[in-house]
Amino acid sequence: MRKLIPLFLAVVLMCGCSHAAGAGQGTKLILRYADNQPKNYPTTLAAQYFADLVQERTDGEIRIRVFCDGELGDEVSALEQLSFGGIDMARLSTGTLTEHSEELALLTMPYLYKDADHMWRVLDGAIGERLLAAINDSGIIGMSWYDAGARSFYSSAPITSLEDLQGLRIRVQESETMSQMVALLGAEPVPMAYEQVYAALYVGKVDGAENNLPSFASMGHSNVAPYFLHDEHSRLPEMQVMSASCAEKIRDVNASYVDIVIACAKESALYERRLWLEQTADSRAAAVRQGVTITELTAAERQKFRDAVQPMYDALPEEQRELVNRIRNS
Ligand code: GCU
Repeated sequence: MRKLIPLFLAVVLMCGCSHAAGAGQGTKLILRYADNQPKNYPTTLAAQYFADLVQERTDGEIRIRVFCDGELGDEVSALEQLSFGGIDMARLSTGTLTEHSEELALLTMPYLYKDADHMWRVLDGAIGERLLAAINDSGIIGMSWYDAGARSFYSSAPITSLEDLQGLRIRVQESETMSQMVALLGAEPVPMAYEQVYAALYVGKVDGAENNLPSFASMGHSNVAPYFLHDEHSRLPEMQVMSASCAEKIRDVNASYVDIVIACAKESALYERRLWLEQTADSRAAAVRQGVTITELTAAERQKFRDAVQPMYDALPEEQRELVNRIRNS
């Protein structure tokens, strides 16, 4: 029997920053997809591309409504809502997923990869596939990896070296690994949701934060923290996920659609990675035009950062160290 769209969903479809059109003639299922980035950000543009692919390849039977700007809540709450079915799909930072999987937490270790190519070799290979499944026990299915570049520190006061970071209050994601890293670098980690960072920098609740260039620019952090230390301490990829109950709903429409949806997610990831590179270059240029001071690290200074966080690697249990070695040797 054809499924009816619940009334509340129809109402939600009429408002918000979401992109997809409402239910069409043959629509059997409408899914809610959450992203905390703004509308023209690479991840949200790619989410819409994903939604369009799914609609096309399921003959309009499955539609995905993309909610951006954190409209459905911050990432921690989006993750909770995925568990009880309030949200069907999301794009989340691995930093947010670390509490659900020790293996995923390893991906957020500082200086894990030599460079971006190294990270993609790992994520596009067997380890990446295994880690997409790392949170299956929490009822969440990883579909694809999106790029989020490398994260660096920025502050409202000049920072050009490790020494300048000492004692600064630095906003971090709500993740134990990120807090540990910042503490080992000599600063004070202040966990808070992404949406609160601009205000916290503005009123001086924190002295700085760390993120990639597109986030720094698009969230206005560059206006209140115009000193960017390009240290690239971690690469935290984003994961596109759906809940296990969402997969069930899709399967109820057509048993072959789950694989189709996952294939569309992977295809959208290739699109996102292209957009990511363009947006990173644009964000950097915009920051420079705006007067942001961007400091590049010398090899010797970069080594000081690496040495400071080495205790995180020394403390890893044997089986995790083994995975880290496999990643490093990939
Ligand atoms: C990146 C990521 C977001 C995440 C944010 C953060 O910007 O794309 O999904 O919430 O980092 O630092 O919290």
